[in-house]
Amino acid sequence: MVVGIAFYDVKGSADIILLAMNLERQIEQYLPQPVLELVKDISGQATKLGQRVYLVGGVVRDLLLGYPNFDLDLVVEGDAVKLAQQVGETGQAKLLAHHRFGTAKLGYENFTLDLATARKETYARPGALPEVTAGTLKDDLIRRDFSINAMAISLAAKGYGELIDPYQGRNDLEHRLIRILHPRSFSDDATRILRGVRYEQRLGFEFEAQTAQLLKQYIPMLDSISGDRIRHELELILKEEQPELAIQRLSELGVLARIAPSLKGDGWIADKFDKARRLKKTNQLPSLHFCLLVYSLSETALEQLLSRLNIQAKLSRAMLDTLHLKTKLPLLDRPSLKPSEIYHLLREYEPLAIQANAIASESPTARRFLRLFLTKLRYVRTVLDGEELKKFGISAGPEMGKILQALHRARLNGEVRTRADEEKLALSLKAINLHADPVKLPGSDRRSTSGPCGTQSEGHSE
Ligand code: CTP
Repeated sequence: MVVGIAFYDVKGSADIILLAMNLERQIEQYLPQPVLELVKDISGQATKLGQRVYLVGGVVRDLLLGYPNFDLDLVVEGDAVKLAQQVGETGQAKLLAHHRFGTAKLGYENFTLDLATARKETYARPGALPEVTAGTLKDDLIRRDFSINAMAISLAAKGYGELIDPYQGRNDLEHRLIRILHPRSFSDDATRILRGVRYEQRLGFEFEAQTAQLLKQYIPMLDSISGDRIRHELELILKEEQPELAIQRLSELGVLARIAPSLKGDGWIADKFDKARRLKKTNQLPSLHFCLLVYSLSETALEQLLSRLNIQAKLSRAMLDTLHLKTKLPLLDRPSLKPSEIYHLLREYEPLAIQANAIASESPTARRFLRLFLTKLRYVRTVLDGEELKKFGISAGPEMGKILQALHRARLNGEVRTRADEEKLALSLKAINLHADPVKLPGSDRRSTSGPCGTQSEGHSE
């Protein structure tokens, strides 16, 4: 029984190398040694309990493709929670069990293992969450989204390494196809529309013809999906290496517009996502992508989207701030602005919104000031605080507040650089009439564009 396994260059054409159906050798090479020993041990314990354990889903797909994936999902024909409890007792794993769902997570020092009781799913109505009962491996595979995700590898000693592929997923990998397992698939779960596009673009695959036709037909079914589930799928897309590919494709298919009428993914988005990638730490990138995605929306359209997707408060604030700040950008398009003026224009906005505008603004001057705020101005602090000002006879209250503000302004503008400078300024402010508003600083008329926070240089970029 000689069958094919495909190694692909994502961007190139499929280059098929024939290998055997038993993947024992591939598993041994693919999984890190401690993980391998662990899954074998788990499988051994399962056998003693009269259960069978399989590796399933994404890891099987990626093992066949030769891509790394250590997000291991195990399916148990038997009681996965009971097995996980036993494994947890004998090893040093932290156990998180969900008896209701028959699932368990075993947390080790560097990785986690997900165990799930093989399940059978039935959908009471399209779009509803499925009703779940215990089932066989085959039941568990047919409830899955695409043939390439519906394969398993047996880990039991008897038949170890055997590929179980009832829906010809391996054949679809070879032909670079995304295929649903039955015609009701998108109507059962329309989030598969988003998932399918994510895999299509990540792997450089195509939808099989009937899958493509049904996908388009069932786009309106997305209306029946909860905001949380759609948001989760969008988050997964925005975590991809090149999310703009899936975003553009979803836009062309009319999926984005179905989620929010004015949402679109075009060349502009692709360019901005690319810039964001070069700037931002990976863990904040998906949120920054969300801010850029809504950059051309009206505030009303954004509010509808936030409520449709049930976006949490902090990210909602950043997305709304992104649009608010966009309307203020003309104020930043003045090269003569002092650092303290930039600071006061931007201090109320979420850093993510400032970052989004620093990427999206058309004005080089505004972009430069936004980056200056993010990399320097927002961190500027005075050396003296209220307690120390008291030692100079300045009492708490409006007078102290004004002096602290003036010290901060002077720091931002590079007009004071040391503790001694600040003390001198505080005392001189105390001596003059402090009740005039705003506090007039010695030298505050000067246009300061140099010094530690000068607008001429920006230091490191984030
Ligand atoms: N799955 C599904 N339908 C969904 C979500 C998940 O059929 N709506 C199945 C698929 O078989 C998938 C598995 O559950 O392979 C695990 O889902 P997930 O962790 O989201 O995907 P992975 O396959 O691990 O793929 P990746 O993490 O690489 O995106």
